[in-house]
Amino acid sequence: MKRVVFNQKGGVGKSTISTNLAAESARNGLRTLLVDLDAQGNSTHYCGIDINDDGVTVADMFKQVVGWFSKPQPPSAFVRPTAFDNLYVLPAHPSLTELERELETRYKMFKLKETLQALEEDFDRVYIDTPPNFNFYSKAALIAADSFVIPFDCDDFSVQAIDRLLDNVLELRSDHNPELQLEGIIINQFNPQAKLPATLIDLLKEKSLPVMESKINSTVKVKESHSKRVPLPFYAPSHKVSQQLAALWKELEDVD
Ligand SMILES: Nc1ncnc2c1ncn2[C@@H]1O[C@H](COP(=O)(O)OP(=O)(O)OP(=O)(O)O)[C@@H](O)[C@H]1O
Ligand SMILES: [Mg+2]
Repeated sequence: MKRVVFNQKGGVGKSTISTNLAAESARNGLRTLLVDLDAQGNSTHYCGIDINDDGVTVADMFKQVVGWFSKPQPPSAFVRPTAFDNLYVLPAHPSLTELERELETRYKMFKLKETLQALEEDFDRVYIDTPPNFNFYSKAALIAADSFVIPFDCDDFSVQAIDRLLDNVLELRSDHNPELQLEGIIINQFNPQAKLPATLIDLLKEKSLPVMESKINSTVKVKESHSKRVPLPFYAPSHKVSQQLAALWKELEDVD
């Protein structure tokens, strides 16, 4: 199962949610690959890997695709282990930004799908973190994935952003990946006491959009775990928000 976490709106929790769902998946004994397609490299960093070190990254995988890499390597050569059992990363790199035009010009949007297909035997689950744009990388992710989830930050502008997002994704789906499923909208930075989030969630439901039952509250523990570079399920397994993440993971996996 390959899931992409996407919302073209910035700062809604894509990296936080993709990393922590991948970590929860790994904690449950599934061999899990986190693919970081955002040149910012926040998920990579969160997992304890430096995006500026000398190690291999997803950018090298793409460079190979456009022939900038002299000695061809199998896709597994670009995957790196983390300090956490069962959690592996295909790390981001700042050069993804300059590579984008080249990849786009050469119509390489299907290469990620091929790469992940070649890794299918090695991993039980794949989570893909995307940049806050409907660009080459997020399109490649949506083509490569079986399903997508949309983090939603309970902001008024986010509702309009979701309409635009769905228009874009539905068009891409009908052109390139008819099997792609919208699994659900993930309510992040939820404040159960405030009125606005409840109103916005109702609005999403009125549009017949699937809203995940398990919501993720706002907590400083998230930022703390970012700065320690230890995903929340490993950093504070008994914290309420780790339990919410675990519930969300179970809901997505459809297990009790
Ligand atoms: N549940 C949460 N509680 C507290 N802070 C959170 C939570 N989720 C995300 N944040 C914070 O919100 C900010 C944005 O989160 P994150 O980087 O995951 O979003 P993003 O959608 O990946 O952003 P970008 O669009 O820049 O890639 C970060 O500072 C993060 O620590
Ligand atoms: Mg991010």
